[in-house]
Amino acid sequence: MLKLNGVTVKFSGLVAVDNLSMEVESGTVHSLIGPNGAGKTTVFNVISGLVKHEGRVYLDGVDLTEVPVHKRVDYGLGRSFQNVIIYKYLNVLNNLMLGYHHRLTYGLFDELLETPKYSALERKAMLKAIEVADLIGIKPLLGVLAGTLPYGYQKLIDIARALMSEPKIIMLDEPAAGLTDAETEMLKEKIRVIKNQGITVFLIEHDMRLVLDISDKVTVLNLGKKIAEGKPEEIVHHPEVIKAYLGTSYSEVK
Ligand SMILES: Nc1ncnc2c1ncn2[C@@H]1O[C@H](COP(=O)(O)OP(=O)(O)O)[C@@H](O)[C@H]1O
Ligand SMILES: [Mg+2]
Repeated sequence: MLKLNGVTVKFSGLVAVDNLSMEVESGTVHSLIGPNGAGKTTVFNVISGLVKHEGRVYLDGVDLTEVPVHKRVDYGLGRSFQNVIIYKYLNVLNNLMLGYHHRLTYGLFDELLETPKYSALERKAMLKAIEVADLIGIKPLLGVLAGTLPYGYQKLIDIARALMSEPKIIMLDEPAAGLTDAETEMLKEKIRVIKNQGITVFLIEHDMRLVLDISDKVTVLNLGKKIAEGKPEEIVHHPEVIKAYLGTSYSEVK
């Protein structure tokens, strides 16, 4: 469903992503792993339309390469960022509703006068927020100020907000970073729930237990190049992956 074809990103001489071609299949959890600086986040930025690059990006056969950032959400691309961005002084409901705003086609006129069109769309956004909160298991928190919640829940709000735009694929950049073990378990369950909704999950993650537990497929980057790709159990035994990233411990575990 998501296809990268010969993607290269150069930052003033540095080749951050080097002729990367890969495909994320529909309905799977696909992880992108590799050492710090391997180019993982840059790959997400390419898909989001945030960096200049060579090569092409396709989603369900549609060439997104020239589509502007803010329009890509209309094609079914959802994303949460490495650093949680939530509005601490808004409650959870309002944080989620903000994720729906790209679909709100009303203008300032409608908003100021609270026209029927405005009210109807706000209502739709609210219903969607309740649905997503229920799915992610944060419905009881809808009225709570986001900034007062533990970090693990703020992360879930961030992910839930990305789901508000009804994406076909959601990209999560190190969602387990900074989470406790219990929060990571919770996150793992939520990723399964998202997958069960038929939403494809493209995941960057360092927590290898999480990656091995939930991934259908893993792509390994090193110095911008794909060095391996396959099922988790294949990846952990791959000599080059062990050398560049995992060390010997994981091949012994599985
Ligand atoms: N905007 C940028 N300008 C210059 N260099 C960048 C920029 N973004 C990333 N890089 C460099 O590109 C390489 C890949 O970075 P990144 O994609 O963030 O790696 P990862 O997410 O795998 O840790 C790194 O060497 C990083 O310093
Ligand atoms: Mg990164």
